[in-house]
Amino acid sequence: MNILLTGGAGYIGSHTIVELDKAGHSVVVVDNLVNSSEESLNRVAKIIGKQVPFVKADVRDAAAMNDLFDKFKIDAVINFAGLKAVGESVAKPLEYYENNMNACFVLLDAMRKHNCKNFIFSSSATVYGDPAIIPITEECPKGQCTNPYGKTKSMLEEVLIDLQKADPEWNVVLLRYFNPIGAHQSGLIGENPNGIPNNLMPYITQTAVGLRKELGVFGNDYDTPDGTGVRDYIHVCDLANGHVCALKAIERKCGLAIYNLGTGHGNSVLDVVKAFEKANNLKVPYSIKPRRAGDIATCYCNPAKAKAELGWEAKYGIEDMCRDAWNFQKNNPEGY
Ligand code: NAD
Ligand code: UFG
Repeated sequence: MNILLTGGAGYIGSHTIVELDKAGHSVVVVDNLVNSSEESLNRVAKIIGKQVPFVKADVRDAAAMNDLFDKFKIDAVINFAGLKAVGESVAKPLEYYENNMNACFVLLDAMRKHNCKNFIFSSSATVYGDPAIIPITEECPKGQCTNPYGKTKSMLEEVLIDLQKADPEWNVVLLRYFNPIGAHQSGLIGENPNGIPNNLMPYITQTAVGLRKELGVFGNDYDTPDGTGVRDYIHVCDLANGHVCALKAIERKCGLAIYNLGTGHGNSVLDVVKAFEKANNLKVPYSIKPRRAGDIATCYCNPAKAKAELGWEAKYGIEDMCRDAWNFQKNNPEGY
């Protein structure tokens, strides 16, 4: 299939291009580079041996999107484009609602006009809020999202469910990602956050490389085995491969389908620090800090549905994720 990746120059998108190429698909990328660099696509070209077509445009630009669909015959779209920093979304709610919602509306309208009705949406474990059951299954009720970023994911899920109900020709796969970390084994592509990282793994790798003094561990008084927050960390290449499997569901005309993409294992913040130190033979200085507002104690999934229906499961463990994250950071100490 010929797949359009919106936001394809970003962290998950760039890794997904590699997996799609491996599976024999062709790819077109549209990105406005608000949180990425075209260099990621040059690096992808080194891995897959060819440059993918890239349209530098904002997905909210209806004329640009219609032109794109006129120019390329697109069979399915994976919508990675969106702003994703939780804290920033609290400070700038209008920017987050406007970008994430409008980009999706403009995209869906251009798709419908061009009779392309196959859509994979980057959703998030954040839609479960403080989860009612652990491990989280897809039947777990959606929870109260504590920030505008999470609300855009939850609301867009509702929009897509209604769209598919109104026109069953649509195949819509909602992929609820847990916590992607790590990098492609080549060390050429990886996570490249702007400014001070919000997320755990980039903070660890930047501390290890000397860009940050020490990691702050946000709370050690949660109701978890060691008191620090527990998450379901998943290797970004496993996550990328989940999109290849979701496309197979689309080819089978799945209608609406919802999947958790995680490993099913929870690791605490201190587990990740220890795994990183062991995998890379390094020390990561850290100190305990107060809890971060909006954080929950524990979040990990039951990935059985994705295994049963998509034949997908995560292959990599936490030490692989730590090794590959460090490999990217040490090869690219200042990012791309
Ligand atoms: P990222 O920021 O690296 O990639 C998103 C890309 O979208 C960037 O390249 C950015 O430039 C682009 N973009 C944003 N708004 C755009 C617009 N209006 N027009 C064109 N391009 C636009 O983020 P990522 O980690 O690769 O995440 C990809 C998707 O997965 C996002 O939708 C994110 O919310 C979702 N997600 C990420 C995580 C995570 O922990 N990384 C977890 C759950 C869900
Ligand atoms: N943490 C620290 N120190 C840091 C950063 C994080 O102790 O410097 C802790 C957090 O308190 C949490 C854990 O590490 O316990 C993971 O935090 P992240 O910020 O890496 O990830 P979150 O689980 O908070 O959220 C991430 C993305 C969301 C996405 C969610 C999906 O930021 O966008 O995963 O599960 F929705």
